[in-house]
Amino acid sequence: MKELSLHILDIVQNSIKAGASLIEVSIMEISSDNILNIIIKDNGCGMDEETVKNVVNPFFTTRTTRKVGLGIPLLQEAAMRCNGTFEIESQVGVGTKISCSFERNNIDRAPLGDMSGTIMTIINSLENCEFNYVHSFDAKSFEFSTIKIKEALEEDNLGSPEILLWIKEFIDESTNELYN
Ligand SMILES: Nc1ncnc2c1ncn2[C@@H]1O[C@H](COP(=O)(O)OP(=O)(O)OP(=O)(O)O)[C@@H](O)[C@H]1O
Ligand SMILES: [Mg+2]
Repeated sequence: MKELSLHILDIVQNSIKAGASLIEVSIMEISSDNILNIIIKDNGCGMDEETVKNVVNPFFTTRTTRKVGLGIPLLQEAAMRCNGTFEIESQVGVGTKISCSFERNNIDRAPLGDMSGTIMTIINSLENCEFNYVHSFDAKSFEFSTIKIKEALEEDNLGSPEILLWIKEFIDESTNELYN
């Protein structure tokens, strides 16, 4: 069973490939509704209608090195297996938004996994791209934004080991606080 953080990493890698300058990830957990909702949004090149239709088909990919694109179908399959929902909204030249939800307590619902490590990996691979992350659990939430961190640290490059580790700790601590 794949961790949800790995699905998120896959989808964000699509956004990076799409040349986005802003990528936003939101995780919303509402225990009373038994829902875990994930949204990944970018302002990259977007997809036309035909591509959006084909994209949930694992035999479709614009990759030339290999015939099968699996990132999107696998996330969709994971959500459907948990009585969830899956939706892609995309417009050429505007960007792409992938929204999915899971029954939070479904036995097949994979754990979120290592979100802090995933975000570290994402930030380390960004070039000329900002990243926002919001995670909420019921009434509590926290937000992380590369723009704000850059301003606060007066540092344009977040790729140094010290800063990446600090970000990882910040995400870990904030996530723990959500659940306590
Ligand atoms: N955010 C996005 N913006 C623009 N195009 C996208 C986006 N996400 C997916 N696509 C298009 O959909 C195709 C399928 O994406 P998917 O992640 O399923 O497979 P892949 O990226 O081609 O391969 P894999 O993820 O298995 O390495 C991509 O090749 C790309 O053309
Ligand atoms: Mg992909």
